Formats: sequence, C-alpha cells, structure tokens
Amino acid sequence: MAFPKNVTVFNHPLINHKIAILRNEATGMKEFRELVEEITTLMAFESLKDIPTTEVDVKTPLELCRQTVVQEKSVVVVPVLRAGLGMVNGIHTLLPTAKVGHIGLYRNEETLEPCEYYCKLPEGIEKKTVIVLDPMLATGGSAVAAINMLKARGCKKIKQMSIIAAPIGVETLAKAHPDVQIYVATVDRQLNENGYILPGLGDAGDRLFGTK
Ligand code: PRP
Ligand code: URA
Repeated sequence: MAFPKNVTVFNHPLINHKIAILRNEATGMKEFRELVEEITTLMAFESLKDIPTTEVDVKTPLELCRQTVVQEKSVVVVPVLRAGLGMVNGIHTLLPTAKVGHIGLYRNEETLEPCEYYCKLPEGIEKKTVIVLDPMLATGGSAVAAINMLKARGCKKIKQMSIIAAPIGVETLAKAHPDVQIYVATVDRQLNENGYILPGLGDAGDRLFGTK
C-alpha cells in the first residue's frame, strides 16, 4: 500500500509483537492499557525525532562537554477523548513536562460523523508542536475534525499518532491535512459496516476503560 509522503507506517517487528497482544480479545484492561502506553513510547522515537533541541554544558567525571537536550515544553500533546487518553503516559515517559490539551469527540453510531463535546487547550498552543493522540484511525473523521479545531486555534505544526489505521482513514486524513505528519503503527485491511477496523482490536475506549 503506497501512501502520501506525509504518512509513516512503522510496521516494526517489536511494535507488531505488542500489537498482536493488544488485538487479542483475551487481553485484559490492565495489560491493554500498558501496551498502548509502551507502543506510544516506541512510536515517539520516530515521531519526535525533529523535536526542537538546545545545547547545554555538562560536566562529566572527566571533562566539560556540550550536549543537546530536548526543549520539552515545545511539545503539547492532545489526546482525543476517550481512547487518546491511553497514549498520554507513553509520551510523558519521555517528555514528563509536556502540557496536555483535550479534545472530546464521539462518533455518531449511524452516520459515523464526529460530534464535538469538549475542547480545552493550553494557552500558547499555537506556537508549539502539537501531537494529536488517538489509537484508532478508522474513517479518519475524528482526526480531521480534531485537526480542524487545532488549526482554528492557530496551530501550525501538527502531528497525528495512531496505533491501528484503516486505509481509508489514512487516505482521508492525508488528503484533508497534507501539512500534517501522520504516524501509524500498522494499517489494517478495511472497515466493517459499523465503521470498525478489521481485524482491528475492537473498541479501544471500551478496552482501555472497561466500559463493556
Ligand atoms: C473512536 C476512536 C477515535 C474514533 C475513530 O472513538 O478512539 O476517536 O473512534 O473513528 P473515525 O476515524 O471513524 O472517526 P469513539 O468515537 O468510539 O469515542 P470513545 O473513544 O469515546 O469511545
Ligand atoms: N474506534 C475504535 O475504537 N475501534 C475501531 O475499530 C474503530 C473506531
């Protein structure tokens, strides 16, 4: 499958190994939550490789040297409620002081159109690199809507991180927002008639929070 150049599909053996456990219907809530965090951290190494850095002096036991460090506060993460919340700790493991904005969207079960119900973003977000977090990219409607909301607030540098995507979701998002870097761990076969990803992992929000 060839996608536009703003799309990165990881297909990494170590990440795929964890996704195999994530998909398994027998995997319980605790393990599911831990895996979502771990996969997010692994994906962050690639997704954040262009994060702004600065140089500092460090005194080693042997001598003084210059060393690059990341500008942690240059990044804001924005989980899409609910399931995106499961990915936040995966980024905070690497960038503990990154601020968090929240966008609440749910899909209308009939039309699959995203409905906005919440938006609270840190002040000054328009000057930051914004990472939108949502483990599932299905029709792409929620991601397109979330990024529309961020652009309406003046955000210019936006990245999307998702774990499992459907081909149509990747195409729709890449077309709607060609300036946004899209990172997905894996791309599945298709959507079913209810907009669920096949083979997928079921409902990510329900599996993270035990609501079904
Ligand atoms: C899920 C998922 C995404 C959205 C993806 O959320 O977490 O936000 O569906 O689907 P799309 O690409 O077709 O828009 P859902 O609407 O089920 O809400 P929830 O996380 O609160 O359960
Ligand atoms: N949201 C989910 O949680 N799972 C899917 O397969 C599609 C959308």
